[in-house]
Amino acid sequence: MFDNSTTTGVLRSETHLTKNFTPQEPVGRDGETDRIVEAVKPLTRQERPENLLVHGPAGVGKTTCVRHVFDRLEDESSTMAIYINCWQYDTRSSLLTELLIEMGYPAPRKGRPVDEILSRLQEFVGKSRGGVAVALDEFDRLGDQTEVVYDLEMLSNSVERDLGLVMVSNRGPRQVRLDPRSESRLDCLTLGFDPYSESELVNILARRVEQAFRPGAVEDEVVEVIAEEVASDSGDCRKALGRLLSLGRWADRNGMDDIGTEQYGEFRNQP
Ligand SMILES: Nc1ncnc2c1ncn2[C@@H]1O[C@H](COP(=O)(O)OP(=O)(O)OP(=O)(O)O)[C@@H](O)[C@H]1O
Ligand SMILES: [Mg+2]
Repeated sequence: MFDNSTTTGVLRSETHLTKNFTPQEPVGRDGETDRIVEAVKPLTRQERPENLLVHGPAGVGKTTCVRHVFDRLEDESSTMAIYINCWQYDTRSSLLTELLIEMGYPAPRKGRPVDEILSRLQEFVGKSRGGVAVALDEFDRLGDQTEVVYDLEMLSNSVERDLGLVMVSNRGPRQVRLDPRSESRLDCLTLGFDPYSESELVNILARRVEQAFRPGAVEDEVVEVIAEEVASDSGDCRKALGRLLSLGRWADRNGMDDIGTEQYGEFRNQP
């Protein structure tokens, strides 16, 4: 009843269209990726990095690009590159504990006083070979933003190790408000991600279609129409991928072998 093996139909790998799938390389976004690299690269030479606030609307590749750069930084240098999603760790204490765990300390998840976590962090960062890069994704979700930024800056100063902070947020720099003391310590540069254009979405979707569908199952025009619709609405790549997945499932339910604009029109007109 729940056998997942598909030998017929248009979809061959839904995974490539799901939210949790991470592409090996972001498609396009070279300028943005280079900018993130530039900000953290000094860490690989034991020099002071730039702190960066990455911002932009939903589904425009912020997480994809930051994660890509952090994975490479970790693989290709002796810099510790730690990625944390503040949606999961949204208080000062849970975030600092997670940072400690990510650094390799077998800490229990809850219940330690912040001072103790900070002194453990000092110990660990002090022992690290190179600098440390920390990405705080969904930074808007963090409750104690000012305190955490202050903690990390103090940590970096106290152990004389360079620490680079990349904060990722849906809100622009004017809306991310830290108190003046943290703001001046942080000395943060910004990088805005724009919504995707139609042609950028075509390039991203075309790659996913190759991975997720049987060869030739989706006509190029269908990809163009989805890209056009989503670009004129939000430029949110997550929505475009979600639409491709629903389309594929719909086509499979209806026993179709290929999808052209006519079938796509039918799909869009379903009640
Ligand atoms: N340049 C890209 N190349 C390939 N896939 C991409 C690209 N940009 C976005 N995606 C895909 O689109 C989806 C949304 O991207 P991502 O999570 O990076 O957006 P985001 O800007 O972090 O959004 P949010 O603000 O909601 O967190 C992901 O599934 C990702 O794989
Ligand atoms: Mg994100």
